[in-house]
Amino acid sequence: MRQNKTILVTGGAGYIGSHTCVELIQNGYQIVVLDNYLNSTKLALKRVEEITQTSLKIYPQDIRNKMALRQIFAQHNIDAIIHFAGLKAVGESVAKPLTYYDNNVGGSIILLKEAQKAGCKNLIFSSSATVYGTPEKLPITENCPTGNTTNPYGTSKFMIEEILQDTYQADQAWKIALLRYFNPVGAHASGKIGENPNGIPNNLMPFIAQVASGKLNHLEVFGNDYDTLDGTGIRDYIHVMDLAKGHVLALDYLLTKSKGEVLTVNLGTGKGYSVLQMVKAFAKASGKKIPYTIEDRRPGDIASCFADVNKAHKILNWHAELDIETMCSDAWRFIEKNSVKTS
Ligand code: NAD
Ligand code: UD1
Repeated sequence: MRQNKTILVTGGAGYIGSHTCVELIQNGYQIVVLDNYLNSTKLALKRVEEITQTSLKIYPQDIRNKMALRQIFAQHNIDAIIHFAGLKAVGESVAKPLTYYDNNVGGSIILLKEAQKAGCKNLIFSSSATVYGTPEKLPITENCPTGNTTNPYGTSKFMIEEILQDTYQADQAWKIALLRYFNPVGAHASGKIGENPNGIPNNLMPFIAQVASGKLNHLEVFGNDYDTLDGTGIRDYIHVMDLAKGHVLALDYLLTKSKGEVLTVNLGTGKGYSVLQMVKAFAKASGKKIPYTIEDRRPGDIASCFADVNKAHKILNWHAELDIETMCSDAWRFIEKNSVKTS
């Protein structure tokens, strides 16, 4: 079934996109990648080619370029889209809301219109646990309220989810999966692709990795007075390769369904780890010291966030397999192999 299916991967040069490209190819899907390299480089796709021993069809284009999309849909018989392309820095979204709404929401609308015109109505969207805002209960189920978002990035994800729901309501031939990722970390086991943020990282794991490598001198822990086991924030960290496998299974599910639907699924491990537990795990995996200071809470942060993952298991037969040690050691291998400054 997978062999003759072609998937358009938007944002395929990015962190999650590049790992998913590997998994798609290794599971027999054919892929076409579109990325404007706003937050990535061609190198990641070269590495995907090395890992998979294939040559990729790549379009260095923007999802807002409707003529480019039209050309892609005309040249390839696209069976489904995995839509990763978007901007994701929370702080930057507060400073540049219009840029975020234009790229994430505006770009998604253009993509959807062109897909619809081409008759491609199968789509997986990269959503986020951020749509739950401050969770009402833990673990978070897919039925928990959404929309109480605290920044334009989160609001853009919520808005796109709503747009996709309305698109399905208007035409129930659409088969859509909203995958709500928890905290993706780690890297491909080869060490060839991984998370490589521009500038100073915002997220915990890449920050810790850069402290371990000596690029940054210490971690600032944002608050140790939360109501958690050690006072630091708890999150559901998920290995990016588990996440990538979740996309393949979601695609299999959509492409074999006879009827349209909007499937909403959490992709997490269901387990939470605190900031200090992550520091300890990374120090062990890397054999490096991770100096840290305790600072004030980061505005907008919540104490704890982890997923109820029963739906993903039940519907997609998916569950995360890789543990926190593997997440840390794979992330570290990527950092070491990609010669980050070590003094
Ligand atoms: P990333 O920045 O590494 O990848 C996004 C890719 O999209 C980049 O390669 C970028 O160049 C490309 N891109 C951005 N705007 C584009 C445009 N207009 N046209 C074409 N390409 C464009 O981010 P990621 O971590 O791989 O995230 C992928 C998706 O998953 C994003 O939509 C993100 O919001 C979502 N997500 C990420 C996380 C996370 O923690 N990494 C969590 C939840 C959801
Ligand atoms: C952040 C975003 C969220 C986004 C998610 C994944 C905010 C408020 N939320 O969530 O919208 O979907 O990333 O991209 O930015 N921490 C430190 N020191 C650091 C960095 C983080 O102590 O230098 C702590 C945080 O306070 C938190 C935990 O580490 O408790 C995880 O932080 P982070 O990796 O930024 O993810 P989220 O807060 O879950």
